[in-house]
Amino acid sequence: FRAVFIGPPGAGKGTQAANLIKDYKVCHLATGDMLRAAVSAGTPVGKQAKEIMDKGGLVSDDIMVDLIHGAINQPDCRKGFLLDGFPRTVGQAEKLDSMLEKDNVKLDSALEFAIEDSLLIRRITGRRVHPPSGRTYHIEFQPPKISGKDDVTGEPLIQRADDNEETLKKRLESYHKSTVPVVGFYKKQGILTTLDAAGKNSDIYAIIKNVISKCG
Ligand code: AP5
Ligand code: ZN
Repeated sequence: FRAVFIGPPGAGKGTQAANLIKDYKVCHLATGDMLRAAVSAGTPVGKQAKEIMDKGGLVSDDIMVDLIHGAINQPDCRKGFLLDGFPRTVGQAEKLDSMLEKDNVKLDSALEFAIEDSLLIRRITGRRVHPPSGRTYHIEFQPPKISGKDDVTGEPLIQRADDNEETLKKRLESYHKSTVPVVGFYKKQGILTTLDAAGKNSDIYAIIKNVISKCG
């Protein structure tokens, strides 16, 4: 399948993507993770992106479209993919459509993670991540077996640089201003499903699996 996840910071996109790629062998492209990897590697894109990400803004459409263009043309992504965090602007959504059109393929599904802003502060401030694997925990909702350590490798967990209340406010502003219109874009195309992202992890996954199973 070819699907996109849209939702505000902390809505559970990364968490559900991890569930989904265990069951379906498609490639998971998380633009936030790709940018953080570029920041750690100190590439030119990473240098540009770091300042914007720390302020909760959006990296330019040109950079993001290039990043995704390269990624979805990799052999293992040509059969199917899950985009997590892209597209985040209508401009990105339009570019994605034209990229896919050239290959004579289409998106099957856009899933919107709907959740009230007020619930996201706790999710974001309590999140801990293992950067090399992308595994995500929460100090209250999904604690690791040993506090502060990754379950699989035992390596230390960290807090993302943008996971604080102040930057969250800016990220939410960017979401409402630039990304909510993307929801309307896919609604018009008739491929949008909106799900209640405030519920239990397993309940949300059951809904996603049901939608994806209809994609063929
Ligand atoms: P990105 O990394 O994509 O961040 P985001 O969209 O803000 O989303 P998050 O990763 O914060 O949230 P999530 O929905 O994945 O939540 P998670 O599952 O981890 O992007 C970062 C930055 O990069 C952007 O701000 C921007 O600057 C830049 N960028 C990226 N893509 C871009 C693009 N296309 N264009 C321009 N700029 C771009 O869950 C959060 C926490 O809650 C976890 O601790 C988890 O354990 C917990 N949790 C999850 N589900 C539940 C549940 N059901 N119940 C209880 N707890 C839960
Ligand atoms: Zn994420």
